[in-house]
Amino acid sequence: MLSNSPIVNEYVDRTPSSQALAERAGKFFPSAISHDSRHTTPYGIYVDKALGSRKWDADGNVYVDYFGGHGALLLGHRNAEVEACIQEALAAGTHFGSSHRFEVAWAEAVQRLMPSAERIRFTSSGTEATLLAMRLARAFTGKNKIARFRTHFHGWHDHMAFGVANHYDGSPTPGVLPEVAAQVVLLDPNDIDGVAGVLERDPEISAVILEPTGGGGGMIPLAPDFVTQLRALTAQHGVLLIMDEVVTGFRVHRGGAQGLLGVTPDLTTLAKILAGGLPGGAVAGRADILDHLDFQAAADRDFEKIHHPGTFNANPLSAAAGTKTLEIIASSDACARAAAFGAELRQRLNESFARAGVAWAAYDQPASIFIFMNAAGLAIDPRNFDPLAIPYQDLKAKPPGLLNKLRLALLIGGVDFSGSGGGVISATHDDGDLEQTVAAFEQAVTLLKAEESLPRI
Ligand SMILES: Cc1ncc(COP(=O)(O)O)c(C=O)c1O
Repeated sequence: MLSNSPIVNEYVDRTPSSQALAERAGKFFPSAISHDSRHTTPYGIYVDKALGSRKWDADGNVYVDYFGGHGALLLGHRNAEVEACIQEALAAGTHFGSSHRFEVAWAEAVQRLMPSAERIRFTSSGTEATLLAMRLARAFTGKNKIARFRTHFHGWHDHMAFGVANHYDGSPTPGVLPEVAAQVVLLDPNDIDGVAGVLERDPEISAVILEPTGGGGGMIPLAPDFVTQLRALTAQHGVLLIMDEVVTGFRVHRGGAQGLLGVTPDLTTLAKILAGGLPGGAVAGRADILDHLDFQAAADRDFEKIHHPGTFNANPLSAAAGTKTLEIIASSDACARAAAFGAELRQRLNESFARAGVAWAAYDQPASIFIFMNAAGLAIDPRNFDPLAIPYQDLKAKPPGLLNKLRLALLIGGVDFSGSGGGVISATHDDGDLEQTVAAFEQAVTLLKAEESLPRI
């Protein structure tokens, strides 16, 4: 595979085993992948093992990892205490088809960190959690519509599959039922007056769901007081507030975004860190709302309960991993360390973009980092960058070819940054990782300048 790009050629030279695996995978998987965010041209790396902040590909190349198990691994890969708990649970059995002590301890660990979790129902993923939260909201309020924000991601089921990266007009993406899309109202982030107008005009809205630090895990940040205002507004209109803390839960703060912002939602959706690196999700929140899953409450109050099975709900392995992870987060400075690393990396990257004369900028949320690639060529100063001053469409717009090449160039430098131009940080990222990441970005910018036109300061 010879390309006219030295970056692509060097990447291919370094990764022959990944290339061979991708060719085999292409015989089965659409685009040779099992998750859209792994789409990389000509192919992505195949990883054999991981430890702490690092992972090793099939050719033995080592990378500083900024995927962090799609955000699930705040404690890094293979935390020894979490692993010991998984082994112990594994030795007891993987599925009892009955209730077990692990799920009770797991719920207690969640509630300790997130007091709004009066009741909890575990699911197998974040997508299932947002689906269930919406159903609860409709059953509880007797209203049909859900309002959500443009660019906010809540999983891939029908209600959530448009208005995230496109279809901002609310039209359904392929395969989504138009009847479902018609029951979803899209709102603009950071426009509290717009939200007020919609809630005023539309009495059919049962709930507003949001990513509480902004779309894409905070890539499209929300203004500091927006969530507080939204809480007040939804309460005023009798509309439920669902915080989707699948990413932010136990990452931005040990109590999630609700702990960080001091705002209490009616319902919270959780996954990722919740399950300590194994599959799992949950809906947590007000007892009177989760009562719609409760046999006795339904009988006492004469309503039809929501039917909710799920083969792997609260499976013992995820419960054990999640409980230990949450215990470590509760009793350590893991969140603060990951956040401090992100803030330092942001500053160092912005200094280096400025030195290189490139009008890109890094910005962060606690324990996550994002790169603004400035597709529109706006006049910015990386050392003084405020993402809130940039329209969400511009923050979201990444030049796809350039983004892919940046990713390959960073892989050459031993850094696996996500394909969306961001990275999640763990408590195991250390000074060596920081230096390597800054060096990899500097090398990547030099390589890219030779092949592409980057926005200039
Ligand atoms: C904010 C948010 N909600 C929901 C989901 C869906 O979670 P899952 O991938 O576990 O289905 C994601 C996944 O990245 C997410 O980021």
